[in-house]
Amino acid sequence: MDLWTLSDLGTPWCVHVVATLRIADRILAGNTEIGPLAAAAGADRDSLHRVLRHLVSKGLFLEPAPGRFALNELARGLLGESGRLGLDLDSFGGRMAHAWGTLLSAVRTGKPAYHEAFGRGFWEDLEAHPEIAASFDALMGPAGHGVPDWRVLVDPADWESVRTVADVGGGTGSLLAEILRAWPDVRGTLVDLPRTVARSDEVFQAADVADRVTTVAQSFFDPLPGRNDLYILKNVLGDWPDREATAILRRCAEAARPSGRVVAFNGAGPGEEASPELLMMVLVGGRGRTLDEFRAMAREAGLEVTAVGRQASGRVIVECRPTGGVA
Ligand SMILES: C[S@@+](CC[C@H](N)C(=O)[O-])C[C@H]1O[C@@H](n2cnc3c(N)ncnc32)[C@H](O)[C@@H]1O
Repeated sequence: MDLWTLSDLGTPWCVHVVATLRIADRILAGNTEIGPLAAAAGADRDSLHRVLRHLVSKGLFLEPAPGRFALNELARGLLGESGRLGLDLDSFGGRMAHAWGTLLSAVRTGKPAYHEAFGRGFWEDLEAHPEIAASFDALMGPAGHGVPDWRVLVDPADWESVRTVADVGGGTGSLLAEILRAWPDVRGTLVDLPRTVARSDEVFQAADVADRVTTVAQSFFDPLPGRNDLYILKNVLGDWPDREATAILRRCAEAARPSGRVVAFNGAGPGEEASPELLMMVLVGGRGRTLDEFRAMAREAGLEVTAVGRQASGRVIVECRPTGGVA
């Protein structure tokens, strides 16, 4: 590969544009000729034609006859709401795409520069734009990341001693719903920001577990609901720089004491490099951490890593117990 090919931004933008214009769904609906296709998408015929021909040359879509388009297997991945999640420039996909334009500032300063593109920091921006926040929550949920695996303990036998679970920064509750479905005697607490918690009711109703859930709309930087047997942090710590990630862990340690445990999905397993997590860097100033880095951070927060394992998908589970005193 040459440098020009490596640095070409055109193809990713074309993919985002056709996702936003719902081109795959329109082709499936019968708009295969470029004229009707562009009209249905509200796009300029010639410009869309050029974009699609570029994508065909890259292996996305087929052009079986000049000006006529068809889906191939890759293009079928763009069908429906879930296919577009994360790519639609009119929703959270647009935030992720444009945030890359702030990478240079992030590299120069060591801090996220998301506000340069959107006028506010990431979480404040979501707060100010409910429709963008809703598409972020959807991307985090089953439509984006798939149905979460409830097996979050290293030793499955330990579930026998779990009666209460708090999912901290648990989004709209899809993981907690799966856990409660699997364990009818367990009760759950969902902790997240008000706008997200407000969307959880339908998730718990659909899973038929709403009567065993308490929702708590609060920041995880404030004291957390106490004395749960298990505190879960999934896809949370990587969103934050070390100081804030340690503060979240410390809140879990305080709340879990004395006998509870904290389970974090940290990313890297023993001896593995942390992933570079560049998107986390530009969006929120977060990072991936090696297990040793995580261990040190947990210790500072008053937690000791007691077990490390993997889910069937390969995701690393790190289990911690509160130590004697919070540092
Ligand atoms: C990357 S998402 C992960 C959601 C969920 N745990 C999952 O794995 O799908 C991070 C979550 O942290 C929540 N969050 C961000 N800042 C927060 C804060 N200060 N207090 C509580 N939750 C917060 C967001 O609303 C979001 O649901």
